[in-house]
Amino acid sequence: MTSTFLASRNPILFGPGVSARTGAELRALGCKKVLVVFDKGVKAAGIVDRILNSIREAGIETVCYDGVLPDPPDYTIEEAAAIGREANVDGVVAVGGGSSLDTGKGAKVLLTNPPPISRYYLAHEDIRPDTGEMKPIIVIPTTAGTGSEATPGGVITDTKNNCKQNVPCATDLGIVDPELTVGLPAAVTVTTAADALCHAIEAFTSAEHNAISDVLAEKAIELIGANLTRAAENGADAEAREGLQLAATLAGLSIMGPFCNVPHEIGLTLGMIFHMPHGTACAMTLPEALHFLAPVIPDRIARVVRLLGATPPEDAPAEMIGAAARDRIAALYRDIGFPKLSDFVKSKEEVLAAVPAIMEAMPFHFSPRPVTAADVSDILAAAYDR
Ligand SMILES: [Fe+2]
Repeated sequence: MTSTFLASRNPILFGPGVSARTGAELRALGCKKVLVVFDKGVKAAGIVDRILNSIREAGIETVCYDGVLPDPPDYTIEEAAAIGREANVDGVVAVGGGSSLDTGKGAKVLLTNPPPISRYYLAHEDIRPDTGEMKPIIVIPTTAGTGSEATPGGVITDTKNNCKQNVPCATDLGIVDPELTVGLPAAVTVTTAADALCHAIEAFTSAEHNAISDVLAEKAIELIGANLTRAAENGADAEAREGLQLAATLAGLSIMGPFCNVPHEIGLTLGMIFHMPHGTACAMTLPEALHFLAPVIPDRIARVVRLLGATPPEDAPAEMIGAAARDRIAALYRDIGFPKLSDFVKSKEEVLAAVPAIMEAMPFHFSPRPVTAADVSDILAAAYDR
């Protein structure tokens, strides 16, 4: 089997307590004044102050932007960058969930490239930001979910066209400290970890999976299966937190080449239409998507089931393997209190009305099985009834 694994250019410092080294790492990068990007919730949780203290103790000045919003809108990236340019910062630190990290990445691009951020969308193949003068960025995830510390881009909401866009931006360092996720509310733990579970399973089941991504994805799936229920039940379980945090980073790496397929491709549009958090929207159809894929990749789906701690019957037909995968993940969702599609959408008819928009937005390039509008309708209807 030959295929491409896009080895990440993002160095990562991982381990309990490593966020205390933020200031020293900035000094090593030559920073004297940095823009610190976060949202008000992370600040209220006391996490930002821990990072600010580390930075200031290293003798580095800070300028703060606390306006990060979920599914970061383009204008917030431009606001953050304007503050950084005005203060003449020489680096960026992004602290928080995926939205904060992606806002920081976009701000890094605009510190040294003229706005608007829409100029640099990956979809515009002819325009790339000039990386020559770019200032360094350190990203510090406080959820175990998006794996944004491992991926060379930020996902941004284009508010003019109401769609998600990717902006290329490597990070200079990811500081991944599981201690920062201790005490995270169960609802946030669950929906962000479900995003990581999707990344890993979608990489493993992608038409473009490869030997390297498989190793990363399998370990991530196993870690999430072993630790998610524990962390949801007891947010102070440090071992479970470390397992989930490692899984999120591995899962982020695993999609570097295979990318995501059916659950994310449905979820990105579903989330935009029905205002669902990214992890919730993408994980919503994971059980049904695996049932859909089982006829073409039964052995891979059976492996996922085993990695999640269940055992499909020996020599089971594909339909039975698909049902086992669907039921295993549905049971996990019940255990952890994962939201239901009906929590966000009033009727099945309403959710099915989103199918044309999903088909228009997404090419399903990485699905191992061709995906029709009727298939998406079936997946959504089954998810709604679950
Ligand atoms: Fe995701």
